[in-house]
Amino acid sequence: MSKKIILSGIQATGKLTLGNYLGAIDNWVKMQEEYECYYMIANLHSLTVRNDPETLRNNTLKILAIYIAAGLDPDKNTIFIQSQVKEHAELGWILDCYTYMGELSRMTQFKDKAAKHADNINAGLFTYPALMAADILLYQADLVPVGEDQMQHLEITRDIAERFNNLYGETFVIPEGYVRKASKRIMGLQDPTSKMSKSATNLNDVIFLEDEPEVILKKFKRAVTDSENIIRFDIENKPGVSNLMQIYSAITSKTIEEIEKEFEGSGYGNFKTKVAEAVIQKLEPIQIKYKELLNNPEYLEKIYTKGAENARELASKTLNSVKEKIGIIV
Ligand code: TRP
Repeated sequence: MSKKIILSGIQATGKLTLGNYLGAIDNWVKMQEEYECYYMIANLHSLTVRNDPETLRNNTLKILAIYIAAGLDPDKNTIFIQSQVKEHAELGWILDCYTYMGELSRMTQFKDKAAKHADNINAGLFTYPALMAADILLYQADLVPVGEDQMQHLEITRDIAERFNNLYGETFVIPEGYVRKASKRIMGLQDPTSKMSKSATNLNDVIFLEDEPEVILKKFKRAVTDSENIIRFDIENKPGVSNLMQIYSAITSKTIEEIEKEFEGSGYGNFKTKVAEAVIQKLEPIQIKYKELLNNPEYLEKIYTKGAENARELASKTLNSVKEKIGIIV
């Protein structure tokens, strides 16, 4: 039996965070044996907000380096840059024509981003989900690991795929979303009621994967907690402490109960230091590898070139079958 296909990606906007690592990349690493995996860097999606060109180029390579440094094996996975597989843009356009304005205008990410970038509500921001649908459907992905905030985009992908299949016969596999367990949802350190976000304005809210050990320690020391001074899991009433426990749990694989035991009688100061140390220790080898990779652009180029070639095989097959069905000369 052939392996199930996974596709996922991260936008090339901003620096990657501990949330991206624990919530996404670290899970991908665990899936690479069991599934046939396609992991991309969504640099076309990044264009929906304004970027400095040099920064966008660098971020694209940095994400690639993080993928590999975190343990994604380029020989076992297809790791590629979205823009290098032209089929994405092409199928994206075709799917635009099978996606309704009404559906797109219900997307909460569109509404949020439109509010945040009121001076640049461009058409790409609006049709973003159709391009994401193309990313997924080109590879006939069975499973798409995403954060909760992307579930709505996965739903619309399924709707578009079903619509197309109903019109033209079986063409696309209908993908399932695979939302990581709540325990893997990493919240901000200053505002533990919202997701740790690479676009946060308060830098103390976010641990970046590039942060030096002293910076990581300092950010954890400043993390918002509460006045109870007891390490106890309670998301409602103790979101800050609960988030730190989840981070510690994700890093050490200890259960929440084990962590409550371990820190019985301990105050927040000691607990925060222990969490910071665990994070620093986990990130250290990744950071070393990451720096090595960034110093070796020829190697990175080899990886993404091979990845794009690999990806194109399946992507072009799917795109050709779509074109034949709708009457576009191949
Ligand atoms: N929209 C996703 C995000 O912001 C990134 C993304 C683009 C993606 N294409 C994808 C994720 C396809 C999963 C599958 O997180």
